[in-house]
Amino acid sequence: MPKLPVPALLKKPRKPGEGASVSTGSGNGAGRNGHPNGDGSSSGGGALETVKEGGIDVIGWLDSRTGASPFLTGMLLRKVPKGTNWFYTLGSATLFAFAMQALTGVFLAMYYVPSSTEAYNSIANLTNDVFLGEFVRGLHKWGATLMIILIFLHMGRTFFFGAYKYPRELNWVIGVVLIILTLVMGLTGYLLPFDQRSYWATIVAMNIAGSGPVVGPYLADFLRAGSEIGATTLPRFYAVHMLLVPGAIIGLIGAHLYLVVKQGTTAPPWVRADSQPKSLREKDVG
Ligand code: HEM
Repeated sequence: MPKLPVPALLKKPRKPGEGASVSTGSGNGAGRNGHPNGDGSSSGGGALETVKEGGIDVIGWLDSRTGASPFLTGMLLRKVPKGTNWFYTLGSATLFAFAMQALTGVFLAMYYVPSSTEAYNSIANLTNDVFLGEFVRGLHKWGATLMIILIFLHMGRTFFFGAYKYPRELNWVIGVVLIILTLVMGLTGYLLPFDQRSYWATIVAMNIAGSGPVVGPYLADFLRAGSEIGATTLPRFYAVHMLLVPGAIIGLIGAHLYLVVKQGTTAPPWVRADSQPKSLREKDVG
């Protein structure tokens, strides 16, 4: 296996006074300049080396005060099954799309006014007058579509690879809630520009929600903040769009990723189980 830089960075730093200031490359295990992470083989010096070692020292300092390295090594250097391929990147791609939505959303929120009289003008101002406003708005708009495409592809991957089966049913259920919440983000975000299209599309969506059995009318009343779309509907959509649902999504993504790390990922169905290392096989046995 090639030597990775990460474990070396996460090694325990030396205690004050420990290790020699000049390396011999042997003896106490200290590397160049007495640093325990060095292998003593480096002959070059210079600014780059100093910057690298500075970075290592900072990480070592943080590690000795937080004890984070076992968690990080467990998370970043866990074993993955044989046969893992590009389809396994769809979950991370969804995560990246969500992070982009959160980031661009913060910038949009700096200019957006969630009032039925001001919303349209604030978006027009953002699009036409604010530096890079149209670009950031475009990123947020197309990013929403991209996230929905990616989340469905990721769900398809886990379904076709049988990753919803024991012991990962709970992670599948968390995923289903995540997909519903992502769609709610799309619905609530659509009204925010408050132009003709978003207004009438939301009326249609409310009527569909309201026609649902038992909870339908209550749900529609909750979203509209009353029996009709009015002055308080937009602030309600805004609060749901930028606080309630993203908060829930962040919490659920945390639980989702915790389970992914704890349970490991499923091997592709065409890879024989007995070709996997024993430590990975045991997790799949019911
Ligand atoms: C915001 C949405 C989501 C994010 C950020 C996310 C992220 C991830 C990541 C990073 C992984 C590990 C790598 C991979 O297998 O791709 C994963 C695995 C998994 N996800 Fe998601 N996911 C999301 C939504 C969903 C949805 C909608 C479902 C299904 C309904 C789902 C079901 C699963 C399952 C079952 C696994 C385990 C895969 C395995 O063991 O091979 N996820 N997710």
